[in-house]
Amino acid sequence: MAHYLVTGAAGFIGARTSEMLLEQGHTVVGIDNVNDAYDPRMKEYRLKKLQALPGFKFHRRDISEKPVIQLFKDERFDGVIHLAARAGVRYSVENPWAFLESNVIGTLNMLEVCRQFGCKKFILASTSSIYGENPPYPTPETASSSEPMQPYAASKKGAEALAHSYHHLYDIDVTVVRYFTVYGPAGRPDLAMFRFVQWISEGLPVRINGDGKQSRGFTYVDDIARGTIAALKPLGYEIINLGGHEVVTINQLVEMIEELTGKSANVQYGPPNLADMFTNQADVTKARQLLGWEPQVDLREGLSNLIKWYNKERDWAKEVLTP
Ligand SMILES: NC(=O)c1ccc[n+]([C@@H]2O[C@H](COP(=O)([O-])OP(=O)(O)OC[C@H]3O[C@@H](n4cnc5c(N)ncnc54)[C@H](O)[C@@H]3O)[C@@H](O)[C@H]2O)c1
Repeated sequence: MAHYLVTGAAGFIGARTSEMLLEQGHTVVGIDNVNDAYDPRMKEYRLKKLQALPGFKFHRRDISEKPVIQLFKDERFDGVIHLAARAGVRYSVENPWAFLESNVIGTLNMLEVCRQFGCKKFILASTSSIYGENPPYPTPETASSSEPMQPYAASKKGAEALAHSYHHLYDIDVTVVRYFTVYGPAGRPDLAMFRFVQWISEGLPVRINGDGKQSRGFTYVDDIARGTIAALKPLGYEIINLGGHEVVTINQLVEMIEELTGKSANVQYGPPNLADMFTNQADVTKARQLLGWEPQVDLREGLSNLIKWYNKERDWAKEVLTP
């Protein structure tokens, strides 16, 4: 059994990945500063569930602070799964500094954990946003990532580049996993999926930026966690897309949630957001070849799981802030 560091363990993907590793009998050290980028009640909820599992240890600390590196001086990690980041394109336009600190300096510090304490495997979570405005669809990893549209994507490009330099200099095996719009139970309340389920379930206005014809290749969180864990194998330096196979428009998504909840949505269209991409769609040929990975959970099943979870947790989930 192996011993892993998971950064961003109170986050959406970090919590599910940690849970899966623990279920497989591994031990996990988690770190997260539980910041208020979105309602921290969601992070505390995930953390509480993780802390009930054997083999989990947690540090409530900020990875962009250099002394944090020394927290791990007595650990012998088999891998660092680096998911902690300021995420989300829109807020990165308002406060790019927060993104540079967590996503670039934070990544540097976690690479230093590997270098200083002899961990040979580093996984970096990156994003489909890195492909910019006009990539080919479906998008392969070879598409250009040199024209980021927001500081968020730019900060991930910086993190990827730093990780490559540590691979080159110190022979750390690095896999960059570029995720495409992840959703599922206990998902992020700053993203469409959770917001729509909450708004439609509670009869609140459903706010859509633009005309709702923009689309996303939604990917279920269990598929993402499974792909991330599969990427722990030695690969040298690789960049691998992890994305879903179904692309739907935001309008179609709302219709699907209406059908599954049995409630109708009061949709209010607003101006489009310039930081948003029009669509995303992953080419996952490389994930199939290198990791034997395919997305397994289709949108209807994943959305049903999210709605079931929401109904079970509704007492508090309906209060989660979705400004
Ligand atoms: N969810 C998606 O659709 C998606 C898509 C593409 C890429 N990603 C990437 O996947 C990773 C995980 O995303 P997520 O959706 O779980 O987001 P999340 O915001 O739920 O999780 C990130 C966690 O990192 C923590 N964190 C941020 N800065 C920190 C710091 N300086 N020190 C310590 N902890 C810090 C946050 O508190 C949060 O709990 C991120 O790197 C994100 O950029 C996510």
